[in-house]
Amino acid sequence: MILPILAYGDPLLKREADEISEDYPDLNTLIENMYETMYEASGVGLAAPQVGLPIRMFIVDGSPFAEDEEDEFDPKAEGLEGFKKVFINPIIEEESGEEWSFREGCLSIPGIREEVFRKENLIITYFDENWQLQEESYSGYAARIIQHEYDHLEGILFTDKLSPLKRRLLAKKLNGISKGDTDIDYRMKFPARKKQRS
Ligand code: NI
Repeated sequence: MILPILAYGDPLLKREADEISEDYPDLNTLIENMYETMYEASGVGLAAPQVGLPIRMFIVDGSPFAEDEEDEFDPKAEGLEGFKKVFINPIIEEESGEEWSFREGCLSIPGIREEVFRKENLIITYFDENWQLQEESYSGYAARIIQHEYDHLEGILFTDKLSPLKRRLLAKKLNGISKGDTDIDYRMKFPARKKQRS
Protein backbone atom coordinates (compact mmCIF):
# COMPACT_ATOMS: atom_id res chain seq x y z
CA MET A 1 0.00 0.00 0.00
CA ILE A 2 1.31 3.38 -0.96
CA LEU A 3 1.36 5.79 1.97
CA PRO A 4 1.07 9.56 1.58
CA ILE A 5 4.39 11.34 2.16
CA LEU A 6 4.22 14.35 4.46
CA ALA A 7 5.27 17.58 2.78
CA TYR A 8 7.53 20.30 4.14
CA GLY A 9 5.84 22.24 6.92
CA ASP A 10 4.20 19.29 8.63
CA PRO A 11 5.06 19.54 12.35
CA LEU A 12 5.77 15.80 12.47
CA LEU A 13 8.83 16.34 10.29
CA LYS A 14 10.27 18.62 12.97
CA ARG A 15 9.73 16.25 15.84
CA GLU A 16 12.28 13.89 17.37
CA ALA A 17 11.09 10.33 16.80
CA ASP A 18 10.83 7.59 19.45
CA GLU A 19 12.49 4.19 19.60
CA ILE A 20 10.29 1.17 19.05
CA SER A 21 10.25 -2.23 20.74
CA GLU A 22 10.18 -5.68 19.19
CA ASP A 23 6.43 -5.95 19.69
CA TYR A 24 5.70 -2.92 17.53
CA PRO A 25 2.50 -3.94 15.69
CA ASP A 26 2.63 -4.99 12.02
CA LEU A 27 6.21 -3.91 11.50
CA ASN A 28 6.68 -6.13 8.44
CA THR A 29 3.64 -4.65 6.73
CA LEU A 30 4.89 -1.16 7.51
CA ILE A 31 8.30 -1.99 6.02
CA GLU A 32 6.66 -3.37 2.85
CA ASN A 33 4.46 -0.30 2.54
CA MET A 34 7.41 2.01 3.03
CA TYR A 35 9.35 0.26 0.25
CA GLU A 36 6.38 0.47 -2.08
CA THR A 37 5.97 4.16 -1.24
CA MET A 38 9.67 4.92 -1.73
CA TYR A 39 9.90 3.14 -5.09
CA GLU A 40 6.73 4.81 -6.35
CA ALA A 41 8.35 8.18 -5.57
CA SER A 42 11.74 7.10 -7.01
CA GLY A 43 13.52 7.74 -3.72
CA VAL A 44 16.65 6.08 -2.35
CA GLY A 45 15.64 6.50 1.30
CA LEU A 46 12.49 7.01 3.36
CA ALA A 47 12.13 7.62 7.08
CA ALA A 48 9.02 6.62 9.07
CA PRO A 49 8.25 10.21 10.15
CA GLN A 50 7.82 11.08 6.46
CA VAL A 51 4.84 8.75 6.33
CA GLY A 52 3.42 10.16 9.56
CA LEU A 53 4.92 7.77 12.09
CA PRO A 54 7.17 9.37 14.73
CA ILE A 55 9.30 6.25 15.18
CA ARG A 56 13.03 5.64 14.77
CA MET A 57 13.14 3.65 11.58
CA PHE A 58 14.19 4.26 8.00
CA ILE A 59 14.72 2.26 4.85
CA VAL A 60 17.20 2.70 2.03
CA ASP A 61 17.87 1.30 -1.40
CA GLY A 62 20.90 2.91 -2.97
CA SER A 63 20.98 0.77 -6.12
CA PRO A 64 19.53 3.51 -8.42
CA PHE A 65 22.54 5.64 -7.40
CA ALA A 66 24.89 2.79 -8.24
CA GLU A 67 23.39 2.54 -11.74
CA ASP A 68 23.67 6.30 -12.29
CA GLU A 69 27.37 6.19 -11.66
CA GLU A 70 28.30 3.28 -13.87
CA ASP A 71 29.91 5.31 -16.72
CA GLU A 72 32.79 6.55 -14.67
CA PHE A 73 34.38 4.95 -11.66
CA ASP A 74 33.33 6.94 -8.62
CA PRO A 75 34.73 5.72 -5.31
CA LYS A 76 31.82 7.39 -3.48
CA ALA A 77 29.40 5.01 -5.24
CA GLU A 78 31.18 1.95 -3.91
CA GLY A 79 28.97 -0.42 -1.93
CA LEU A 80 25.69 0.94 -3.31
CA GLU A 81 24.91 -2.16 -5.34
CA GLY A 82 22.55 -4.15 -3.13
CA PHE A 83 22.53 -1.44 -0.45
CA LYS A 84 18.94 -2.18 0.54
CA LYS A 85 18.37 -2.15 4.28
CA VAL A 86 16.01 -1.43 7.12
CA PHE A 87 17.46 0.54 10.04
CA ILE A 88 15.54 0.26 13.31
CA ASN A 89 16.52 2.32 16.40
CA PRO A 90 19.77 3.33 14.69
CA ILE A 91 22.56 5.21 16.42
CA ILE A 92 25.31 6.91 14.43
CA GLU A 93 28.21 6.10 16.75
CA GLU A 94 30.88 8.04 14.93
CA GLU A 95 31.36 10.28 11.91
CA SER A 96 34.79 10.93 10.46
CA GLY A 97 36.70 12.21 7.45
CA GLU A 98 36.45 15.33 5.38
CA GLU A 99 33.21 17.20 4.92
CA TRP A 100 32.05 17.02 1.32
CA SER A 101 29.22 18.68 -0.47
CA PHE A 102 26.41 17.03 -2.42
CA ARG A 103 23.14 18.34 -3.89
CA GLU A 104 20.58 16.61 -1.72
CA GLY A 105 16.90 16.27 -2.33
CA CYS A 106 14.08 14.94 -0.16
CA LEU A 107 10.74 13.32 -1.01
CA SER A 108 9.11 15.70 1.50
CA ILE A 109 10.59 18.73 -0.30
CA PRO A 110 9.95 18.07 -4.00
CA GLY A 111 11.63 20.23 -6.61
CA ILE A 112 14.40 21.55 -4.37
CA ARG A 113 17.98 20.30 -4.40
CA GLU A 114 20.76 22.05 -2.54
CA GLU A 115 24.37 21.49 -1.63
CA VAL A 116 24.75 20.05 1.86
CA PHE A 117 28.05 19.37 3.62
CA ARG A 118 28.48 16.15 5.58
CA LYS A 119 31.36 13.98 6.77
CA GLU A 120 32.54 11.15 4.54
CA ASN A 121 32.42 8.13 6.86
CA LEU A 122 30.28 6.81 9.66
CA ILE A 123 29.79 3.90 11.99
CA ILE A 124 26.19 2.97 12.77
CA THR A 125 24.58 0.46 15.09
CA TYR A 126 20.96 -0.57 14.52
CA PHE A 127 18.51 -3.44 14.55
CA ASP A 128 17.65 -5.00 11.21
CA GLU A 129 14.15 -6.19 10.28
CA ASN A 130 14.83 -9.49 12.12
CA TRP A 131 15.81 -7.57 15.26
CA GLN A 132 19.45 -8.58 14.93
CA LEU A 133 21.82 -5.93 16.24
CA GLN A 134 24.23 -4.76 13.53
CA GLU A 135 27.28 -2.55 13.52
CA GLU A 136 28.51 -1.33 10.14
CA SER A 137 30.74 1.29 8.54
CA TYR A 138 29.73 3.30 5.50
CA SER A 139 31.23 6.01 3.37
CA GLY A 140 30.44 8.04 0.27
CA TYR A 141 26.87 8.05 -1.04
CA ALA A 142 25.77 5.21 1.24
CA ALA A 143 26.84 7.25 4.29
CA ARG A 144 25.17 10.31 2.76
CA ILE A 145 21.82 8.52 2.41
CA ILE A 146 22.06 7.24 6.00
CA GLN A 147 22.94 10.69 7.37
CA HIS A 148 20.01 12.29 5.53
CA GLU A 149 17.51 9.66 6.72
CA TYR A 150 18.90 9.64 10.25
CA ASP A 151 18.35 13.40 10.42
CA HIS A 152 14.65 12.79 9.75
CA LEU A 153 14.50 10.83 13.03
CA GLU A 154 15.96 13.85 14.80
CA GLY A 155 13.41 16.20 13.22
CA ILE A 156 16.05 17.74 10.95
CA LEU A 157 15.55 18.43 7.23
CA PHE A 158 18.37 19.16 4.80
CA THR A 159 17.06 22.70 4.43
CA ASP A 160 17.88 23.24 8.13
CA LYS A 161 21.54 22.77 7.21
CA LEU A 162 21.62 25.56 4.62
CA SER A 163 22.91 29.07 5.25
CA PRO A 164 20.38 31.62 6.54
CA LEU A 165 20.66 33.47 3.23
CA LYS A 166 19.95 30.36 1.19
CA ARG A 167 17.00 29.54 3.42
CA ARG A 168 15.63 33.04 2.94
CA LEU A 169 15.92 32.65 -0.83
CA LEU A 170 14.01 29.37 -0.65
CA ALA A 171 11.36 30.51 1.84
CA LYS A 172 8.68 31.29 -0.75
CA LYS A 173 9.16 28.01 -2.57
CA LEU A 174 9.10 26.03 0.69
CA ASN A 175 5.95 27.81 1.77
CA GLY A 176 4.44 26.91 -1.59
CA ILE A 177 5.30 23.24 -1.11
CA SER A 178 3.50 23.14 2.23
CA LYS A 179 0.39 24.48 0.44
CA GLY A 180 0.59 21.85 -2.27
CA ASP A 181 2.10 24.13 -4.89
CA THR A 182 4.24 21.47 -6.59
CA ASP A 183 3.78 19.11 -9.49
CA ILE A 184 4.77 15.76 -8.09
CA ASP A 185 3.59 12.43 -9.43
CA TYR A 186 3.45 10.64 -6.08
CA ARG A 187 1.04 10.75 -3.18
CA MET A 188 1.66 13.56 -0.65
CA LYS A 189 -0.08 15.21 2.26
CA PHE A 190 0.27 18.99 2.42
CA PRO A 191 -0.06 20.62 5.85
CA ALA A 192 -1.24 24.01 4.58
CA ARG A 193 -3.40 23.02 1.63
CA LYS A 194 -6.80 24.67 1.90
CA LYS A 195 -8.70 22.02 -0.01
CA GLN A 196 -7.38 18.48 -0.28
CA ARG A 197 -7.77 17.19 -3.80
CA SER A 198 -9.91 14.08 -3.94
NI1 NI B 1 14.43 13.34 3.20
